[in-house]
Amino acid sequence: MKVFEKVKDLQEYLSGQKNPIGLVPTMGALHQGHLSLLQNSKKDNATTVVSIFVNPIQFNDKKDFDKYPRLLDNDLKLLDNYNCDVVFAPSVEEIYPEPPQESYDFGYLDKVLEGAFRPGHFNGVAIVVNRLFNIVKPDRAYFGKKDYQQYIIIKQLVKQQNLPIEIIAVPIVREPSGLAMSSRNLRLSENELQIAPEIYKALYLAKNLAYKKSINEVKQAVIDHLTQFLDFKIEYVEIVNADNLKTMNDWNEGKPIILIATWLGDVRLIDNMELF
Ligand code: PAJ
Repeated sequence: MKVFEKVKDLQEYLSGQKNPIGLVPTMGALHQGHLSLLQNSKKDNATTVVSIFVNPIQFNDKKDFDKYPRLLDNDLKLLDNYNCDVVFAPSVEEIYPEPPQESYDFGYLDKVLEGAFRPGHFNGVAIVVNRLFNIVKPDRAYFGKKDYQQYIIIKQLVKQQNLPIEIIAVPIVREPSGLAMSSRNLRLSENELQIAPEIYKALYLAKNLAYKKSINEVKQAVIDHLTQFLDFKIEYVEIVNADNLKTMNDWNEGKPIILIATWLGDVRLIDNMELF
């Protein structure tokens, strides 16, 4: 496995490697969710690049950025064990020699859900992903459905910029408890780890009630389930059209997906489940 910090060195090496190239963008602190993206890319492509970069401009909360786990040595061992071909782990200066100025507008898609609660977040994500696309020039790029809105926005980015890149969505990987794997789970206390799987139970409740009760009743049942546990501070519970993220009032308006964002202590967790 080759590891590069510099764009130039990476590009020089990739020019001698076989196509197609698959790219898996990450912020490190890798877990089975990330490794599932890697495995999908390895299956489809001759060369797979995993990038590890904790992107400062997508954190709207400085504390979250400071506390974000950084475990590069461990990540490199994991990636090597999973036969990753190439790792790109640049410094902030390498990606942003100057403060980035771009501003993206994804219309409705970046204003709702995460966009409403994390101002500037998706602009930061779009800037870094677009740079990674420009640097690596992948044929395919892999994104987890864990960050469902991010996946939809990246598909829109590729469409808007006319990039010849296929965006592939990979299912959410969960702990045996149902808790969606996340680098931020490392920050949960023992007690919080006991409660966190209730998010999955609440999503599952929605799956069982979908099409039987009204959308509002299902949302309320999910909120009622979570609020039994006083440690959750819910930001949103929404049932939207999985194609365009528009709020749904009736089950027949499209393919429904339920998305949740909640604080548990000082950790913000997101999860979702397709209801179709
Ligand atoms: P990060 O949170 O490290 O996630 C990297 C990729 O792994 C994302 O596509 C995310 O959806 C996916 N992922 C995370 N947990 C997952 C799980 N439990 N199951 C399946 N996939 C999972 O998302 C980012 O980084 C950043 O925003 C990034 C795209 C790298 C841009 O900085």
